[in-house]
Amino acid sequence: MKKIIIAGNWKMNLLQAEVIQLMSGIVKHVKAQRLPNNLKIVCSPVYPYLQTAQSLIPEALKSSLQLAAQNCSEQNPGAFTGEVNPAMLKDVSCKYVIIGHSERRQYQKEDHQLLAAKTKNAIQSGLQVIFCCGEQLKERQQDQQFNIVQQQLEESIFDLHPDLLSKVAIAYEPVWAIGTGETATPEQANEMHQFIRELIHQNFSTEIADNTSILYGGSMKPANAEALLAQPDIDGGLIGGAALQVESFTGIIDIALQLKPTA
Ligand code: 13P
Repeated sequence: MKKIIIAGNWKMNLLQAEVIQLMSGIVKHVKAQRLPNNLKIVCSPVYPYLQTAQSLIPEALKSSLQLAAQNCSEQNPGAFTGEVNPAMLKDVSCKYVIIGHSERRQYQKEDHQLLAAKTKNAIQSGLQVIFCCGEQLKERQQDQQFNIVQQQLEESIFDLHPDLLSKVAIAYEPVWAIGTGETATPEQANEMHQFIRELIHQNFSTEIADNTSILYGGSMKPANAEALLAQPDIDGGLIGGAALQVESFTGIIDIALQLKPTA
């Protein structure tokens, strides 16, 4: 069954004491629920606090509550000062890595080719990838959103072997909705998710398309999560601002629990 993923991207926020506070609150909430096997809760602190966060997850929750790194290197061990490779992330119990976030495309100038190399390296090292795509405001105003997303996927992940693509969840994050308080309407988001699923169908197979988790990201919060997660092609969320508070993040988890098919 398709995985439903509620992932918090903590970005470059929170010091250690705050990481402990947030993670402990999430653990407490999740512990009190019966989480279905197909629902995965993912938290993504900065590199230095991955182990701190991991140490707070009780053994019984490790298959439901997992960690993602926000980036990884495309390189294997060697002389690459300041870089962290996926094997190291795996070694500190990370299950996922976020690749292709628009902030890294914008500020670190990461291009399609580099993102393809990072994705391949991460999967080959045993991580699962949350691959982000999404158009900018100007591109939507010019009705280019479908072309842009198609190009981002084709150039970075569609030449993966089908067995490797099954390790990728896609996050559609329209750049104009990130951190702006503005969200795509549920219909706009679902339309793009359907389009992405159809592309996977054409490039791979119906089975892979049906099993790929496609998350929405961009100002998701409890107040809009219900309408977004009610859409049939939205398989979870990648949440920034609202993932930094226990109540809002766990509020979204609870909505997913109510709305999404469970197994
Ligand atoms: P916001 O939820 O703060 O808009 O951020 C979304 C995001 O970029 C998640 O990766």
